[in-house]
Amino acid sequence: MKILAICGSLRAASLNAMLLRAAARLAPPDMAILVYEGMAALPLFNPDLDLTPPATVLDLKAQISAADAVLIASPEYAHGVTGVMKNALDWTVSSDVFVNKPVIVFNASPRATHADAALREILGVMSAKILETASVKLPVIGAGLDEDGMLSHPDIAEILKAALLAAKTELQSFPLD
Ligand SMILES: Cc1cc2nc3c(=O)[nH]c(=O)nc-3n(C[C@H](O)[C@H](O)[C@H](O)COP(=O)(O)O)c2cc1C
Repeated sequence: MKILAICGSLRAASLNAMLLRAAARLAPPDMAILVYEGMAALPLFNPDLDLTPPATVLDLKAQISAADAVLIASPEYAHGVTGVMKNALDWTVSSDVFVNKPVIVFNASPRATHADAALREILGVMSAKILETASVKLPVIGAGLDEDGMLSHPDIAEILKAALLAAKTELQSFPLD
């Protein structure tokens, strides 16, 4: 199973990015989590360019299409989805890359309910299938942990492992390429 992990923060010390890298290290042997590295290179969405998108956008869509599932971890900014995350999603709206695509949503800040709900709404309107049993809240923001700290934190590591196993189980009910 190939999972594309997308982070909605460009911050060098992003906790959401660390969480995705920690998840990649905890993935079961038959699951590969690849962290998408192209977020900062995506131009601002412009519908005029949608028919002939730049190479960075074509690459994003190709990576989503090739993945069996997408894993998203994104912060909340001012009670909304970050512009970075929304921009990436807007580039995919006119295509079918998210139609029936299994998506796992990690919320690294359990108090950040607005962005989580908005992100789910956006994914829903694009006909993505949110894997609910794998989409977990993790008490990461404010815990003072780095990637290794998340992996050695008993609660966080346990939630991550359980989420990935739940994703595996849910994905087994989807037809994989
Ligand atoms: C501009 C800005 C707005 C923020 N707004 C919220 C918010 O509305 N709700 C919240 O829970 N956290 C908010 N935060 C805190 C972020 O969730 C927190 O900084 C988080 O660590 C950012 O994710 P990252 O570490 O992956 O970059 C905000 C942070 C920034 C920089």
